[in-house]
Amino acid sequence: MPAQFSQFASSVGVESAFSVLAIAKRLIAAGKDVIELEIGDSPFSTPPKAIEAGVQAIRDGHSRYGPSLGIMDFRNAAAEYVNREYGLSVTGEHVIAGPGAKNFEQLFCEAFLNPGDGVLVFSPHFPTYPPNIFRRDARMVLSELKASHDFRPSLEDVRRFLNEDKAPKAIFLNSPHNPTGGVALFEDLKGIADLIRGRDVVVFSDEPYDRMVWRGRHHSIPSRWIRSVDDKVTIAKTADEAHAHWRDEERSQALFGDDNSRSERDVGASHNLNRSFSGTY
Ligand SMILES: Cc1ncc(COP(=O)(O)O)c(C=O)c1O
Repeated sequence: MPAQFSQFASSVGVESAFSVLAIAKRLIAAGKDVIELEIGDSPFSTPPKAIEAGVQAIRDGHSRYGPSLGIMDFRNAAAEYVNREYGLSVTGEHVIAGPGAKNFEQLFCEAFLNPGDGVLVFSPHFPTYPPNIFRRDARMVLSELKASHDFRPSLEDVRRFLNEDKAPKAIFLNSPHNPTGGVALFEDLKGIADLIRGRDVVVFSDEPYDRMVWRGRHHSIPSRWIRSVDDKVTIAKTADEAHAHWRDEERSQALFGDDNSRSERDVGASHNLNRSFSGTY
């Protein structure tokens, strides 16, 4: 008798962007001219200095198991980055490095969610949020992002979720937002921080596009302005796509010069998935 897959295995779906990617690659291989709009992959090649650094690291023997939380130098560098950009005061000890944001969605859900817990998700949302929430038997509570509100999170819905849900436990935030492009303002994040302060509610703040804000600037929920957020509130921060700018740095310098302003430089940054980090503050 053939081995039966588990019920869980048969409930697992696909991420549609990768299905479309496979079709696109097949058409390209068959000689079709395809404009790819599915996954956020960089159109640029890896710059020579990154290739050399990778090869050199292997030559230097960095090809064995690393520490499970990530290489300390990288964790320190990530901590310096968020401190510099968002006014935090974290150390490398607060940072865990991993191979992608989705891993941290899963770990976050496993770390915090019990069956029956409510998770507020602003919608439309990234397709891997629901399966990660559902595999913990938690409930997804949707708040619609509206064009009339610039696709910013609704504080009224957060308030309702906290006051009316039977077991409110977590909020998934994503700003700058995929796919609407909405950017949460400082006042939105401050409002959410004020509402959840003192409660056993955790936030997964998914910020892979933090350097892709063309007007105003990106704010991260654990910024210096809302440092008073109670320490029970935990922020898992992803920052991968824009952080692949080791790949694009040279190109953006070529396009905009060395002393370009941040917003100009950001135009040169593009999508690529390489690293994520997740911290608990
Ligand atoms: C909102 C959002 N979260 C997470 C990810 C990426 O996750 P990962 O780094 O696991 O590919 C993306 C990528 O498109 C995204 O748009």
